[in-house]
Amino acid sequence: MTITLIAAVAANGTIGAAGGMPWHLPEDLERFKAMTTGHTLVMGRKTYESIGRPLPGRRTLVITRDPRWSADGVAVTSSLDAALEHAPGETVFVAGGGEIYAQTIDRADRLEITHVHRAVEGDTAFPTIDPDRWQVEATDERDGFAFVTYGPRAAPVRRLDDLLAGLQPVLHPGEYVYVLAGADDRHIRTKPVVVVHEAEGKTLVIDAGAAGEAGFPTSPRFAWITLEVHSDLEAVGLTAAVATALTDEGIACNVVAGFHHDHLFVPIGRAGDAIDALTRLSAAPPGPRP
Ligand SMILES: NC(=O)c1ccc[n+]([C@@H]2O[C@H](COP(=O)([O-])OP(=O)(O)OC[C@H]3O[C@@H](n4cnc5c(N)ncnc54)[C@H](OP(=O)(O)O)[C@@H]3O)[C@@H](O)[C@H]2O)c1
Repeated sequence: MTITLIAAVAANGTIGAAGGMPWHLPEDLERFKAMTTGHTLVMGRKTYESIGRPLPGRRTLVITRDPRWSADGVAVTSSLDAALEHAPGETVFVAGGGEIYAQTIDRADRLEITHVHRAVEGDTAFPTIDPDRWQVEATDERDGFAFVTYGPRAAPVRRLDDLLAGLQPVLHPGEYVYVLAGADDRHIRTKPVVVVHEAEGKTLVIDAGAAGEAGFPTSPRFAWITLEVHSDLEAVGLTAAVATALTDEGIACNVVAGFHHDHLFVPIGRAGDAIDALTRLSAAPPGPRP
């Protein structure tokens, strides 16, 4: 059985206000209906009462500690474990609210989140979506909100062959420049993609357009490539193999290792060659070098 949490969440984490939903998003309601029809919905007593009726085409399982509570057309349980482990059907959708999401997010297989792109006042929040545990699998951007599917983040990869086989180089759109932040604060509005603190100052990698607007030099320009493989931080050899493959092609490359991925910056004119070299490296990892 898979457990999916389904929720609409504001930019500040709000999901509810005064016992109800703090917005009316017809597209979100349509998606909720399409995804959950034919399946079991598990929800807290307060969420059920805010809806006020069983939703058609779905089995509704309400959790309450009150043994006297009942409602027509819904099953009732006092045990979250019973709700999640013995609910009928292949897929259980946990439909809120805040208390129930908080108690189930650690045992969920999937999150279907409608991210509302504004902060909203309220009294109920969605738990933090831990980026070490969850990764985005799909995003469907709409006007003012996005439907985002999260799945479990794969365990970090340690063996060099597996690292190289899983490189999946992704070329980001845009052109980037390296700049040195000065004593003024004009760099703050540039939204850097990388910040390196050194004794001499702060090095930023920023979008070339943003650099121009903030009065920074806009050349030389670089392409930004992310290696999608999630490398164990103690794995050995990935950076060296990547740098060697690019060096063999005569491509200068600056590698920035992040927690989840490595990021490469190569001269803008060599971006295509770099992607080709990394794709070849991924398909046929080199044997031991003489
Ligand atoms: N934006 C969204 O997608 C979304 C989705 C759903 C809900 N919401 C909003 O969220 C708010 C409601 O959330 P909420 O956190 O206040 O309440 P809730 O999670 O819906 O329900 C809480 C109730 O569930 C029962 N319960 C919780 N944990 C239990 C356990 N371990 N065992 C047995 N029973 C348990 C208790 O019921 P008893 O008190 O009866 O014992 C508790 O009072 C509303 O504003 C609603 O509109 C938003």
